[in-house]
Amino acid sequence: MIHYFDHTTSTNDLARGADYHHMDVIWAGSQSAGRGQRGHKWHSVEGKNLTFSVVLEPHFLPIVEQFILSEVVALALVDTLKNYDLEARIKWTNDIYVGDSKIAGVLIEQMLATDHIARTIVGIGLNICQTTFPDDLPNPTSMRLEGAKESSPREVLEAFMLNLGRWYTCLVDGDKDAIGQRYNSLLYHRDELHTYAYASGEHFEAIIRRVQPTGHLELEHADGTISAYAFKEVEFCLPKKLR
Ligand code: BTN
Repeated sequence: MIHYFDHTTSTNDLARGADYHHMDVIWAGSQSAGRGQRGHKWHSVEGKNLTFSVVLEPHFLPIVEQFILSEVVALALVDTLKNYDLEARIKWTNDIYVGDSKIAGVLIEQMLATDHIARTIVGIGLNICQTTFPDDLPNPTSMRLEGAKESSPREVLEAFMLNLGRWYTCLVDGDKDAIGQRYNSLLYHRDELHTYAYASGEHFEAIIRRVQPTGHLELEHADGTISAYAFKEVEFCLPKKLR
């Protein structure tokens, strides 16, 4: 069920409420404290984009396999953009890119029980109609800027929920390899030489080969060795685009 609010602090916070359950959507027209990854704020002009959270209750999923939920969500976003004729890619771990610009971001927060996932809150910001962004955002874009056919946020949200339902069913059915393969096939910068940075700031060139089921990024270095990195251990170095 979709629950709409004109305004809230963060839909991820609201989604923690005990009244919400599996596949409930908490959607807000604006957020005063929208959160992004790595402690960033999420910027979105009121009413122009989608800012919402989906509650999942994947009680069957072992905690060590939680990364597959990121894959499922990223795949549902890519399929939704494809519904609007946009070819999107997944920038590890789950930013959604069209070309070299970010069109959607995902913030997943887990509520864990002793040995399983009690509740997952999937927070999504998807840019739909916004055409100008603050200068300090490195490379934002929106469906309108990328030339997608006009659509209301509600229509896009309903399309996303259908796609999420399909990929989630795939997970429930145990088709984990299909999810991992599709996720890897859509990776941004896969099999190309690009510059990355360690958390220390040191730059290096490497090639993305794949993402492991644990969520670790496998990079092939100049000497041919392959190393696996956890989130926050390496970053993409992308040029700031001028719009
Ligand atoms: C990112 O940094 O890319 C993740 C952005 C996630 C933003 C969404 S907007 C809806 C939900 N509520 C929040 O506070 N954050 C997420």
